[in-house]
Amino acid sequence: MASHLKENKVALITGTTSNLGINIAYRLIDELPQSTNLTLIVTSRTLPRVKDVITEIKEHTIKKYPQRSGHLEFDYLLLDFTDMVSVLSAYYDLNKKFEKVDYLFVNSSQGSFSGIDWMGAVKQIMESPLEAVTNPTYKKQRVGVMTNDGMGQVFQANVFGPYYLIHKIRHLLKGGRIIWISSIMSESKYLSFNDLQLIKSPESYEGSKRLIDLSHFASYKTLKRNNDITQYLVHPGIFTSFSFSQYLNVFTFYGMLCLFYLARFFGSPYHNIDAYVAANAPIVAALGDEDQSIKLGSLSGRSGKEYLARDEIDTTGAEDIVAYLDKLVVEWNEKFKDQIVNTRQP
Ligand SMILES: NC(=O)c1ccc[n+]([C@@H]2O[C@H](COP(=O)([O-])OP(=O)(O)OC[C@H]3O[C@@H](n4cnc5c(N)ncnc54)[C@H](OP(=O)(O)O)[C@@H]3O)[C@@H](O)[C@H]2O)c1
Repeated sequence: MASHLKENKVALITGTTSNLGINIAYRLIDELPQSTNLTLIVTSRTLPRVKDVITEIKEHTIKKYPQRSGHLEFDYLLLDFTDMVSVLSAYYDLNKKFEKVDYLFVNSSQGSFSGIDWMGAVKQIMESPLEAVTNPTYKKQRVGVMTNDGMGQVFQANVFGPYYLIHKIRHLLKGGRIIWISSIMSESKYLSFNDLQLIKSPESYEGSKRLIDLSHFASYKTLKRNNDITQYLVHPGIFTSFSFSQYLNVFTFYGMLCLFYLARFFGSPYHNIDAYVAANAPIVAALGDEDQSIKLGSLSGRSGKEYLARDEIDTTGAEDIVAYLDKLVVEWNEKFKDQIVNTRQP
């Protein structure tokens, strides 16, 4: 009887070990019907973090839904987007083990951050506190960092690595959804068309988010038409990040948190602070019926009540970006011809 049939869903969340990644997992479990058989494919670059994140998600589920009737299963990929062999290996693994992937959240990201310019931080906080916690200019980023594959590190980690994986698993994504996690910091000023791999850029992280925005707008229609894949672009607003906390001590961490709450109190809609709230837009994109031609954002009101932004984005140059990425895909397909990789090598 149809009503007794349980749905089977497979979700792949890249960078599941991040604050947003794990909260996307929590929210997916919370918002899918509890009868859904859900397989979560978590990713990290290291095995201990994979184990930790699976334990945390299991604990969340057992505590909140002791009677959950659908199965919750886990699989993992040791995936490093700055290593193309690792990306190819992830493809082999997925292809071998799964017939479909219903949701792919491209959430992982890497910056070439080297610390905080404390003088610059104090100056920006004194001059414009709201701007300082919304568009900080004091995070130091290294310039010219390359991968062993010969690409700009941030470009490969955030843009081309995931783009290539999507290209390889399009058949698994048929009928499914891709949700790219961008940022509010992705204005066109962060990207030079003479430096698409962000090798000369002092703002490569922001530039990579601009590339993500542009590649979405030039590819979502083709993906739908040719592959029956529905792709969305979202931003999570601003929330506490595990990776940024490493540059802060207990005083500066709570100082930053206070500024976040003050920013929200004084009207910033971007300061979600809580990564569960930041996961609102990614989950609505995955489960709802949103317009693909906008950028969906997670926002909060003064009291912390969540709501969504639907932003139009300047797409100038989008076709050129996708043409560039597609050319690189062809080059890497050529390099990988007949390549056999060992999977699951930590
Ligand atoms: N925090 C914010 O306020 C904010 C604002 C706007 C947008 N975002 C976006 O939201 C997403 C999550 O942010 P977050 O702050 O929660 O993340 P985060 O703490 O910076 O964590 C990054 C995640 O990406 C993974 N990762 C890093 N480099 C990788 C690589 N080369 N290959 C594969 N995986 C890699 C890490 O996994 P392992 O270390 O376990 O390998 C980790 O899970 C990112 O896309 C970020 O750009 C965040």
